[in-house]
Amino acid sequence: MLELKNIHFKIRKGRDEVPLLEEINLRVPTGHFMAIVGPSGCGKSTLLKLIAGINQESSGSIFWNGRNLSEEGDLEHAEIGYVPQFSIAYEALTVEENIESAIGLRAETENREAFHQLVDTVLASTGLDSLRDRSVKVLSGGQRRRLSLALELVTDPVLLLCDEVTSGLDPKSEQEIVHLMHQLSRNEHRLVVNVTHSLASLELYDSVLVLDAGRVVYHGPPRALEHYFSVEKAEDVYPQLAKRQPGEWAQSWDKHRLAYYESYPVKPVNASAVSVSAVTPGAAAQFWALFFRRWKIFFRDKGQIFLQLAILIGFPFLVIVFELDGVEQTRRLSESVPSSKEAFEAETNDMTFNLNLGGIVSGLVMFQVILLTLMGSNNSAREIAGERQIFEKEKLGGVRPAVYIGSKLAFLSLLVLMQSVWMAVFVQTVCEIPSQSFVPHLLLLLLVNGAMTAICLGISSLAKTADQASLLSIYLVGFQLPLSGAVLALPEWAGWLSRPFISAYWSWAGIMDGMDRDYFRYISEVTDTWLSPMRLSFTVLIVHVTVGLFVAYIGVKKPRWDA
Ligand SMILES: Nc1ncnc2c1ncn2[C@@H]1O[C@H](COP(=O)(O)OP(=O)(O)O)[C@@H](O)[C@H]1O
Ligand SMILES: [Mg+2]
Repeated sequence: MLELKNIHFKIRKGRDEVPLLEEINLRVPTGHFMAIVGPSGCGKSTLLKLIAGINQESSGSIFWNGRNLSEEGDLEHAEIGYVPQFSIAYEALTVEENIESAIGLRAETENREAFHQLVDTVLASTGLDSLRDRSVKVLSGGQRRRLSLALELVTDPVLLLCDEVTSGLDPKSEQEIVHLMHQLSRNEHRLVVNVTHSLASLELYDSVLVLDAGRVVYHGPPRALEHYFSVEKAEDVYPQLAKRQPGEWAQSWDKHRLAYYESYPVKPVNASAVSVSAVTPGAAAQFWALFFRRWKIFFRDKGQIFLQLAILIGFPFLVIVFELDGVEQTRRLSESVPSSKEAFEAETNDMTFNLNLGGIVSGLVMFQVILLTLMGSNNSAREIAGERQIFEKEKLGGVRPAVYIGSKLAFLSLLVLMQSVWMAVFVQTVCEIPSQSFVPHLLLLLLVNGAMTAICLGISSLAKTADQASLLSIYLVGFQLPLSGAVLALPEWAGWLSRPFISAYWSWAGIMDGMDRDYFRYISEVTDTWLSPMRLSFTVLIVHVTVGLFVAYIGVKKPRWDA
């Protein structure tokens, strides 16, 4: 039994409080199929989210089987199925893979056999068996809605809340989905609620709740609807509602409510079957499910693989092509060092040559660093923002934000590792940058890529859309070069102000500090910028990585529903 007692829901708009729902009183048994109908914007979705626990009521209480959800805690994740208005499946995966992923994240199974059994049961109960290998990309509207329902059924929820799952479908598909939901409600432990704008075929519902301007104006069997509103067919209810002031209908419902409940008691019909909602899997199981799914999606997208490869292999070449002239000189110099001290001195006496060389080495490293920041932003800018609504849904289903960030960290670390190591090794092999030691040089390149990847992951978790996250991340990369002070000399105060935030500066400066002392002279000669000790560079870059990840975690924890 679901019971809403005197529920109010207000939101703040500027200084005012706007009531979206007022005085909602409601009792619905299990084994029941209820429709929430009402004109656009009357608060249907808002009410559904309130029941789902996404919205928090301003006052009043919600009870589930006598338990006060506001006081004694919400239902378990696995007990609620919420099907939002938007699609919640991964387009790149097949129907079966999406269901497998939902099970991995939301429903613990004893062994592989039970796992496959559950996949089959869910596919069969939603009529998706013949489409199991089909990619979500090619599914029709009706098939997608079936999949949305299937994804929620993996936990065998006691409360199944559907928002407009029949909207925008052709009449035949709409009928099929309503039949499916009806079937799912024939279970004595389950209540199925569907929000719909359409008043066309309400016969299958056990009860219909009519909302108008945030208030209940009717709740009873569909067959009494016409009589209550004095209309010939249900479709005329909306025009009828519009004839009176908002509030008048609600008042008259308050008067008739008890009498109506008496003559049309809402009770379960032909209920059967026992269901026990699943147990949410542990953190490790969720981590692997997320991690493997990420790689699967990565490898499905040929364009993405091509882009990653092009960047991975192409960027280091770019560094070399642009610095080809300089490469000659660095080689000459590095060869002359061990062989002949005299030749070296002759060369080093040539001040112009050496200053030029200092500039080249510094520029070469800066180019490497900047390209790695670009790779970093490309790695992660869309990572969270691009799937935010799906994640929001999965979080409601019990996926832990820290585990989600952990899976991103594992996935991105591998990209960062490949990109940075290849960049460092390849450029070093060709150009022989005169570092004292290659390892810190490599680590500083790894860290700048990691820092930018982590920071852009943070941006991605805060951004409203993937495009916004991309744009912000690109700006951030764009600012790295001028604000690092490595190329343009900044006014001193501006340098000190901006530098703490510019990952590229710290990586570059740290690498410069690690240059062979003979060259370091010339490098500091050609740059006006303060060069940080290498140790400080490491510290700051590690702080950048940590802050980025922390922001990503905070951003991911915060609820963000679009619809
Ligand atoms: N978070 C919010 N902030 C401001 N307005 C909101 C918010 N959520 C809903 N609304 C407004 O509340 C009203 C009801 O919205 P909703 O429940 O989505 O309507 P519908 O019945 O069409 O599903 C709409 O006017 C909508 O613009
Ligand atoms: Mg809605």
